[in-house]
Amino acid sequence: MNDREPDIKWPIVERLRAANHVVVLSGAGTSAESGIPTFRDAMTGLWAKFDPMQLATPEAFAADPELVTRWYDWRREKCWSCQPNAGHVALVEMEKHVLARGGKFTLVTQNVDRLHQRAGSQRVLELHGTLFEWRCVSCSKSQDVGGEPFASYPPLCDCGGARRPGVVWFGESLPMVQLSQGRNEAGSCDLFFTVGTSAVVYPAAGLIDAAIAGKPMTVEVNPDATPASSRVDHALRASASVLQRLVDAAFGEPSDA
Ligand code: OAD
Repeated sequence: MNDREPDIKWPIVERLRAANHVVVLSGAGTSAESGIPTFRDAMTGLWAKFDPMQLATPEAFAADPELVTRWYDWRREKCWSCQPNAGHVALVEMEKHVLARGGKFTLVTQNVDRLHQRAGSQRVLELHGTLFEWRCVSCSKSQDVGGEPFASYPPLCDCGGARRPGVVWFGESLPMVQLSQGRNEAGSCDLFFTVGTSAVVYPAAGLIDAAIAGKPMTVEVNPDATPASSRVDHALRASASVLQRLVDAAFGEPSDA
């Protein structure tokens, strides 16, 4: 470690080695080093004149399905062309090591970019849905659309209905199963990480409250301070890639475990 690198703090390493259940809440900052703009930063180029709050709603889709699906398609293409970064890979390693010694690992994400899954994470609870599953507004059938180009805007289901992106829009509820599972596990784990999230968007940020109430060791990874920083046990002022150093320190160099 050199002077400019943050202290990774040995109590975290020791807890990581011994923890029976590790829960991670990830946010947009986890994907920053992959070059994925955050939701609000995404309004560039042709889209700069639009307000995300006015595109990410059921009302916007009902009023102008072509405009809304073109915007989400543009975001989907951007995410598809990006690659997982060292932070995503470290979480894959962490999961492998925890599972290999019989522990439990839960990754709860607010991200819609699927980079955790593309990196190889096995168990991911998506709180805000994904850009890669589109759901028919008539028959509710979902389809994984991957990076395939659309033939129309909105894309159409086999039944003829319009497909909408499988993300949670403003004014919509988060998926109850994932949310309550995430909250329960955050409150009952023995090591909790919040990584790359501003910790202000509820109900997702409620997982941090649940974790603090449940008294596992709590760790924040974020280059900037958030409302959670003073409430967690350890606030690492670092980018998500610092997780690789924690994993290496706890389990040795990257392995095929
Ligand atoms: P935000 O965009 O609110 O916050 C991103 C956080 O990542 C900030 O606190 C940054 O300091 C931090 N950050 C930046 N670069 C980082 C890096 N390299 N490593 C680690 N952290 C870094 O993103 P979220 O908290 O995920 O909702 O926002 C939650 C939700 O707000 C999003 O899912 C979206 C938005 O409205 C929906 O789309 C429903």
